[in-house]
Amino acid sequence: VPAPSAATGTARVLVASNRGPVAFADGPDGELLLRRGAGGLVSGLGQAAADAPPDADRLVWVCAALGDADRRAASRAPDGRLDRAGFDTGRAAVRILDIDQEIFDRAYNAVANRVLWFVQHLLYAPASQPVFGARFRQDWAAYQAYNAMFAEALAQEAAPGACVLVQDYHLMLVPGQLRRMRPDLRIAHFSHTPWAPPDYFRILPDDVQAQLLHGLLGADRLGFLTDAWADAFERCAEALPGVAVHDRQVRVLAQADGAQADGVEADGGRLVRIGVHPLGVDVGELRDRAAQADVAGRAAELAALAGGRRLIVRVDRTELSKNIVRGLLAYRELLRAQPRWRGQVMHLVCAYPSRHNLPEYREYTQAVRRLAAEINDEFAEDDWCPLHLEVTDDYPRSIAALSLAEVLVVNPVRDGMNLVAKEGAALSRRDAVLVLSREAGAYAEMGGAALVVNPFDVQATAAALHTALIMPAAERRRRAAELAAVAGRLPPRIWFTDQLAALAAAP
Ligand code: F6P
Repeated sequence: VPAPSAATGTARVLVASNRGPVAFADGPDGELLLRRGAGGLVSGLGQAAADAPPDADRLVWVCAALGDADRRAASRAPDGRLDRAGFDTGRAAVRILDIDQEIFDRAYNAVANRVLWFVQHLLYAPASQPVFGARFRQDWAAYQAYNAMFAEALAQEAAPGACVLVQDYHLMLVPGQLRRMRPDLRIAHFSHTPWAPPDYFRILPDDVQAQLLHGLLGADRLGFLTDAWADAFERCAEALPGVAVHDRQVRVLAQADGAQADGVEADGGRLVRIGVHPLGVDVGELRDRAAQADVAGRAAELAALAGGRRLIVRVDRTELSKNIVRGLLAYRELLRAQPRWRGQVMHLVCAYPSRHNLPEYREYTQAVRRLAAEINDEFAEDDWCPLHLEVTDDYPRSIAALSLAEVLVVNPVRDGMNLVAKEGAALSRRDAVLVLSREAGAYAEMGGAALVVNPFDVQATAAALHTALIMPAAERRRRAAELAAVAGRLPPRIWFTDQLAALAAAP
């Protein structure tokens, strides 16, 4: 971790996330094309950043370069600030960190997506438990270094007393590292994933557990998407020596090495406040987007494909926690157990490749493709294709699919929130029935109006699909209205400004 730095910057509000609000791609003539970044976090924060007052130094967003095009863009500016390199990044100044490729791969792939993601989503099967040996230690050192690069950049950009909002499991060490460099800052961290129960979190090496927890506890405020994830975090934190938890507050007396915690007052500890902020969607903005011509074009294509049949839809990154394979098995079970639906329905599966640098994710994509083909082999008729699989990410098509769905399947084995459930509720033009896993964060708010399933129970999921298809129109309408109201309860802009206000008011 770099030594405390005397130099301070001018930004009053800073955001840090692995994936930033913009991404670059190579144009046909070798020029750099600037695009909106991908992923749920960007949809969440992009609007809030765009709303920041027109003072370029007020909001600085620090992120990692995710490819060669990003790296070349960053290299145009001596300090990596894209606005200074002549790119229009809206009202947020974006600082893109050119991280050494090996460090990035180890931190993002090996630690964040293979270990931390697996732990928080309980994805390790008994036969494939992780092995934490010498190689993991190198990966872990890279994760520490990658986090330190973010902390250093934030420390350079932040004005005295500025508010820093750090996002997600890639950057769990940043709050502690940054506090050591800049104790004057107000620091928040938000977890967009679930949090594992203590017995499962204990899979991690003891020192790694302590570093992660103390890294986060370097913040003034910690945010989670649901009470369940906040509770699980608290139960992990209270197992640490020198840490006491009470009433959504964590009192930190000692650090991982037993030394007194940074910033501890004589009266007994530094207080870290825990907040639950269930991110929603901007219903008006989504509906405006759905009204645009490209979405209408996609909707016409999908309607032609369905040929008047009722659409069962899912939209996911192809990723193990999303439980796509069991979702497809449930559809197969439906067609086997309820032959009346053969020829009457079509399952539109949008499953977009994700994190293909890791074998687990590649194998999962193959399993999805195989099962989709098997289902079509078993049931297809001359004039009926039971399942249509789309693997090329296409945002207008996803919006069109959600608006045409009669049934929306969201069956993750575990999910921080699952914004697709909320997007689907906001966009539905056919009063879509939501078949929702009780393990998704969205269940806490939407469980009452959805058909709730145990994501491991394929037969129960098939039965829920059947119930959705036979549900009377009036009941569909009532449930859909309730789901749409819930989806828009905490749109990203308010979600962000609420947290910023709470952080700015922190003692
Ligand atoms: O669920 C947490 C989250 O950070 C989302 O915000 C985001 O969509 C995803 O995980 C990250 O995916 P990726 O590895 O593609 O950046």
